[in-house]
Amino acid sequence: MQPIVLDADMGVDDALAVALALHSPELELAGITVVAGNVAQDQGTRNALQVLELFDRDDVPVFVGAAQPLRRAAVDATSVHGNSGLGYAELAEPRTVPAGSAVEYLIDEIRMRPGELVIVATGPLTNLALAERRAPGILNSARRVVAMGGALWCGGNITPHSEYNIHADPHALIELLQAQVNLTLVPLDVTHQLLLTAADIAAGQSQCSDTWSDFFDAATRRVIEYGRESNGLDGLHLHDPAVLALLIEPSLFQTRTLHVNVKAEGTQAGHIALLEEEDAGALSVNCAVEVDAAGVMQLLRHRLMNI
Ligand code: BDR
Ligand code: CA
Repeated sequence: MQPIVLDADMGVDDALAVALALHSPELELAGITVVAGNVAQDQGTRNALQVLELFDRDDVPVFVGAAQPLRRAAVDATSVHGNSGLGYAELAEPRTVPAGSAVEYLIDEIRMRPGELVIVATGPLTNLALAERRAPGILNSARRVVAMGGALWCGGNITPHSEYNIHADPHALIELLQAQVNLTLVPLDVTHQLLLTAADIAAGQSQCSDTWSDFFDAATRRVIEYGRESNGLDGLHLHDPAVLALLIEPSLFQTRTLHVNVKAEGTQAGHIALLEEEDAGALSVNCAVEVDAAGVMQLLRHRLMNI
């Protein structure tokens, strides 16, 4: 069983990643650290507490992280995920409260289990960069760091060339790569192959009805409506669950070390330009470049929807 800390910005697919972690015997969810991203940090913290309580798992601690990116102004994604970040879902007021600071927890938890903990980032990388600033080298004492982020050969989803998580805080990725953190990115090139269709969701709903399936339907319906209106997509991409699928079944992915230059400013912010190896100043990052999409979707449909 791999112990993981999920560092999330608690939009709809982050919530699905929490559910996947809780439903996967290969993973032990040690804690959730929340970062501002899809929604503001206080709303994201609330979402994390609510989703854990939905599963009666308030034993998993939630930690409060960065409210702003390192250097840029915050940019949210409520147009996609809804004002709360959880689509149309309405969950009970949380009973529990956050357990402390995300950055301190990341540092302490990694130190307590050197070489064991996997850090899974599904939002902007701000908390991870702050942990690395405060305790240089700390992330390389984790077993590994895996993150949903980037658009390599495909187009972006927030600007023509940038993926949201990296666009929101490009300086955080740059700092992690400059510190040579052992980081694997799962980019849009992979996650855009993982479409959960509206028909899949209808099939799942017909199989069972409980608080989770009600949540699933209400949360995803908002993202699907956005996709239909903005680009005719009849489903939602499972961006954040994909990172956990890489940990659960690595044979379904191929990864490669790439040499990159990450643009940090202006409309290009978050664009990951691919370079030739010999280019001076190139940063290196391991990236998922191929995926057995049918295999991953089978795993995710089964674990998330029992179909
Ligand atoms: C990423 O951005 C967020 O909106 C999603 O939760 C995912 O982490 C996809 O670009
Ligand atoms: Ca996310």
